Amino acid sequence: RHAWRGVIEEYRDRLPVSADTPVVTLGEGGTPLVAAQWLSEQTGCEVWLKVEGNNPTGSFKDRGMTVAISLAAQAGDKAVVCASTGNTSASAAAYAVRAGLLPLVLIPAGRIAKGKLAQAIVHGAQLVSIDGSFDDCLRIVRELGKNYPVALVNSVNPVRLEGQKTAAFEVCDALGDAPDLHLLPVGNAGNIAAYWKGYNEYAKDKLASKTPQMWGFQAEGAAPIVRGEIVDKPDTQATAIRVGNPASWQLAAAARDESGGRIEAVTDEQILAAQRELAGKEGVFVEPASAAGVAGLLATKAAGRLDGGQTIVITVTGHGLKDTDTALAYAVPDGVDAPVTPAETDAVARVAGLV
Ligand code: F0G
Repeated sequence: RHAWRGVIEEYRDRLPVSADTPVVTLGEGGTPLVAAQWLSEQTGCEVWLKVEGNNPTGSFKDRGMTVAISLAAQAGDKAVVCASTGNTSASAAAYAVRAGLLPLVLIPAGRIAKGKLAQAIVHGAQLVSIDGSFDDCLRIVRELGKNYPVALVNSVNPVRLEGQKTAAFEVCDALGDAPDLHLLPVGNAGNIAAYWKGYNEYAKDKLASKTPQMWGFQAEGAAPIVRGEIVDKPDTQATAIRVGNPASWQLAAAARDESGGRIEAVTDEQILAAQRELAGKEGVFVEPASAAGVAGLLATKAAGRLDGGQTIVITVTGHGLKDTDTALAYAVPDGVDAPVTPAETDAVARVAGLV
């Protein structure tokens, strides 16, 4: 037994680092694989949640960022740039300042959750709010990376996916094998590709007996891969996955096809209902986008398209505290202004319905 050292030290021989790489880590990875009792009962399967909100900045992005920022530091870069719906910028900002690099982040104005905005600001990122979509932001940072001395740390940088594949290793290490199905949300489509790569590496090295089917879920208003065409004005309350032209589209399609899996759409109502059920029944509070995999599982079950008896892992990608506005608007549409109760035990017992 030893204290968790972060994904680079834990999986060093499977990552593109050398003895000379200065490891920039916040102890990311090693996240809980939580047995999902309610979902298991609902589906007749053995369902597990890979709770990625437990990472240092509250999302799975930290796994890739430790690798991307470590390599940027090794290369002598002075500044890093990313486009983001919020989580990538939070993670880039934290890891960049830790390495003494300047984080420059482009976000779609008015379309990122407040918790994520706070993270970027408080970590000291140079924030540029763009009058446009995430896809516009991504186009611009690619050009900036080409023409200016800034290292691009979006998942178009392949080392990001190398870091993110460690989550698949952790799942196999915890279960003793790969699951039958792996479900997760799909936005810019890097994470599904990263998991697929990780599962294949473990299977190739006989650390797992099989690879899972990869099931990805997009929000219905932002489902380019499902539709097979770019969505010009993607829209969903799950702002993290509000992406109309995913950078890793081809890799995600390959993960789907090679694994015999699927990429489907779920509605915002299904996503928000799944978020609520996860919090209310499993005790796990995730941000809206992160509930897309759970929404997909429940929809598949409801449609009679799920075989029982399978081992299923669902990645819940980011913490619920990232976006309390959306969660509260759904849970209490009329607002949270409950009447104030006198500070007296009797009064509280009455209000709480104990008498
Ligand atoms: N879940 C959350 C919470 C995310 O932040 C993202 C992506 C995804 C799922 C989808 O993962 O892009 O690899 O398919 N967020 C990016 C960002 C776009 O900028 O933070 P993906």
